[in-house]
Amino acid sequence: MSIIIAIDGYSSTGKSTTAKAVAQALGYVYIDTGAMYRAVTYLALEKGFASTSGIEVKALMKVLRKTDIKFVYNATLGFSEIYLDGKNIENEIRGIEIANWVSEVAKQPEVRTYLVNLQRKMGEQKGIVMDGRDIGTTVFPNAELKIFMTASEQVRAERRYKELKAKGDNASFEEVLANIQHRDHIDTTRKESPLRKADDAVVIDNTHLTIEEQVQKILSLMEKYQ
Ligand code: DC
Repeated sequence: MSIIIAIDGYSSTGKSTTAKAVAQALGYVYIDTGAMYRAVTYLALEKGFASTSGIEVKALMKVLRKTDIKFVYNATLGFSEIYLDGKNIENEIRGIEIANWVSEVAKQPEVRTYLVNLQRKMGEQKGIVMDGRDIGTTVFPNAELKIFMTASEQVRAERRYKELKAKGDNASFEEVLANIQHRDHIDTTRKESPLRKADDAVVIDNTHLTIEEQVQKILSLMEKYQ
């Protein structure tokens, strides 16, 4: 039986690495909804709709409705990458500039409604692992398996800092930590579907867990569906 696995949690808790590995082990499709919010942020910055005075939501939505956002499976990497109007923007969306803007974009109700609809369509066939902030609460409240991932702020900032450094991004540790704190604040306090654990989600605190250990935990929770 194919099911929907919803993985929610704070930024930099290793949700996507874990979700990718779980999807691979099960032969499921992995959908990174954070990449979708990042792609819209990329679009907003590219078109000049994001500035210190805010996001020009109307103008952004007009362009967004005409923009094709999709995931394309990369067999070499073993997971899907995000494309905006046919252009692979996987690298472009992972830098600190997008990270600094994405919460502003993701808190806009129009943007959320639009992306949530797209996400529901992507999950129609089941057999998916979807990660984000509101998957178990809003996108798929009936998902068969819900995971809520958390880890200490310090450990999350250290992981993210190493990742950015490896990519040649020279953000400082303090900047990365501040960005994580800022995103946690906006993600949990925004009006529209804030980050919150679904009542029936299983909590995994991975401060002291390896990726393999958390993947095994989720796979063992999956056993009853196989
Ligand atoms: O998972 P991530 O760090 O790539 O997500 C980027 C931002 O997008 C994050 O600050 C919160 C937002 N987001 C969201 O609001 N809802 C989702 N389902 C996924 C991400």
